[in-house]
Amino acid sequence: MGGLVRSKSKAFMYIAHLLAATAAVMVLVWCIHFRGGLAFESANKSLIFNVHPVLMLIGFIIMGGEATMSYRTLPWSKRVKKTIHLILHAIALVLGVFGIYFAFKFHNESGIDNLYSLHSWMGLGTICLYGIQWIFGFVTFLYPGASVFLRTAYLAWHVLFGVFVYLLAIATAELGFLEKLTFLETSGILHRYSPEAFLVNSTALVVILLGASVVLSLIVPYIDYSNIYTVD
Ligand code: HEM
Ligand code: HEM
Repeated sequence: MGGLVRSKSKAFMYIAHLLAATAAVMVLVWCIHFRGGLAFESANKSLIFNVHPVLMLIGFIIMGGEATMSYRTLPWSKRVKKTIHLILHAIALVLGVFGIYFAFKFHNESGIDNLYSLHSWMGLGTICLYGIQWIFGFVTFLYPGASVFLRTAYLAWHVLFGVFVYLLAIATAELGFLEKLTFLETSGILHRYSPEAFLVNSTALVVILLGASVVLSLIVPYIDYSNIYTVD
C-alpha cells in the first residue's frame, strides 16, 4: 500500500512539473507576444504592468510550488532538503514582492488608484501570510530552532498553513487573470472570442490544475486507506 501511495504522490508531482512549465510558457507568450513585452521603464506603462503577472506566476506560484514539493522530490538528507526548501521559498517570496512592486509602479505612473480591488487585497494578504509562514518556519525549524516537542506540535500547522497560503495565491492569481481580461474586453481592446482571450482563460485553468496537483501530491500520503467503507 505504501508503495502505491508513494507512486501516486510522485505521479501528481510529475503532472505539477509539466503544468508549471506549460503555465510559464503561456504567461510569457501572453505578456511578450500579445501584450507587447516587459519593461522596467517605458513611456508605454502597460509594459511595466506586464512584468506583474510574469513574476507572480513564475516567481511566486511556480517557484513556491516547487519549494513546497522539494521535500518529496529531492533524494538528499533532511538538513539539505530543509535548506533547499527555505531558499526556494525565500526566492519565491522575493520575486513575489518584486512582482507586486511592478503593479504599484504601473498604477502610480499611470495615475491609477492603489488597492481598490478584491484581487489587490487578497494579493497583499497572501504575500504577508507567506512572509509570516516563512519567518515562523525559519525560527521553529532552523534558527534558533524550537524544542523537539514544539517542532512536532508545529509541523502539522506548518503544513496546513503552507497549503492554505498556496491555495490563496492560486485564488488571487485567478482573480488577477479575470480582472485584466475583463479590463481589456470592456475597454474594447480585445474581442471576447479572440485567440488572446482564449489563451488567458486557458492559462488560468492550467494554474488551477497546477494548484490541485501540488496539493494532491502532498495530501495523498495522508489519506487513511485503513478506513474501510461499510455498507450499512
Ligand atoms: C498570487 C499572485 C498575485 C498577487 C499576490 C498579486 C497581487 C497584486 C496586488 C497587491 C496588486 C495591487 C497593486 C496596486 O494596488 O497598486 C495587484 C494588482 C493587479 N494585478 Fe495582481 N497579483 C497576483 C497575480 C496576478 C496575475 C496572474 C494577474 C494577471 C494578469 C494579475 C493582475 C493584476 C491587475 C490587473 C492588477 C491591477 C488592478 C488591481 O489593483 O486589482 N495579478 N496584484
Ligand atoms: C512560505 C514559506 C513556506 C511554506 C509555504 C512551507 C510549506 C511547507 C509544506 C506544505 C510542507 C509539507 C511538505 C511535505 O509534506 O512534503 C512543509 C514542510 C516543512 N517545512 Fe516548510 N514551508 C515554508 C517555509 C519553511 C521554512 C522557512 C522552513 C525552515 C527551515 C521550513 C521547514 C519545513 C520543515 C522542517 C518541514 C517538514 C518536512 C518533513 O516532513 O520532514 N519551511 N513546508
